[in-house]
Amino acid sequence: MQVKEKLDKETLDRYESITRKNYRNDLKARSYYRSYAGMVTPANLYAKAIAAREVACVRRLLDDIGLQSPSCLDVPCGTGKLAKLLCSRASMVVGADISAEMMSFAVTYKTSPNSWLVQADAQQMPFADKEFDLVLCLRLFHRVPKQLRLEMMSEFKRVSSAGVIVSMAIEGPWQRMKWRTRRVLRMTESAPFAANLHSFRDEVETSGFAWRRSLSVMPGLSSERLFLLSPVK
Ligand SMILES: C[S@@+](CC[C@H](N)C(=O)[O-])C[C@H]1O[C@@H](n2cnc3c(N)ncnc32)[C@H](O)[C@@H]1O
Repeated sequence: MQVKEKLDKETLDRYESITRKNYRNDLKARSYYRSYAGMVTPANLYAKAIAAREVACVRRLLDDIGLQSPSCLDVPCGTGKLAKLLCSRASMVVGADISAEMMSFAVTYKTSPNSWLVQADAQQMPFADKEFDLVLCLRLFHRVPKQLRLEMMSEFKRVSSAGVIVSMAIEGPWQRMKWRTRRVLRMTESAPFAANLHSFRDEVETSGFAWRRSLSVMPGLSSERLFLLSPVK
């Protein structure tokens, strides 16, 4: 594929190992789920606070969109962090993820009468054009090289009719320092493909979306921001 030829092998290998393969593992899936859904401990306090804020921000953006009972695609749904919120607000929800191990923890999606789980790659999804009103994509883009993000964005545009809620790690001087320190200490890279605000806006516009609203998940502490995008006709 032409887009992939422009990516060097090292970047593709990184994406393969830290994003696509990383979560196809029972232990990883369990520890991800526990980090925000387990009992509060000093070690998971931050992850729980971030997860709660993400859900609150998504709720606020759904209110902004103002659609009554939209149909939603949550990709990647992971262990189902958004499931309770979406199953209570949407007419139907599909949770999709490349990792069956992660989805095995998404109990609400498995048991709600208005939701389904599908194993799928966000780059090429088995859904019809405009099958959903909304696509929600949390905590994936900062782990995907820009060229592949553009492919995903074009898939999101194809399968949705009303808009997209997407999260992205936005670089700032403080975050860059934090990520550099993690690299030096050989800790896991938390946002290997983050972008600055200006270039992310370009990506959004190149993909045929307009940027309606952006919310910072935890100002000053987290680089993650949520964006509400609507398709440009
Ligand atoms: C950090 S988790 C985020 C999950 C969920 N959105 C959340 O906020 O809890 C990243 C997820 O992306 C999934 N993933 C990675 N590459 C993917 C791809 N190309 N298509 C679909 N899912 C992918 C992983 O399996 C994992 O579940």
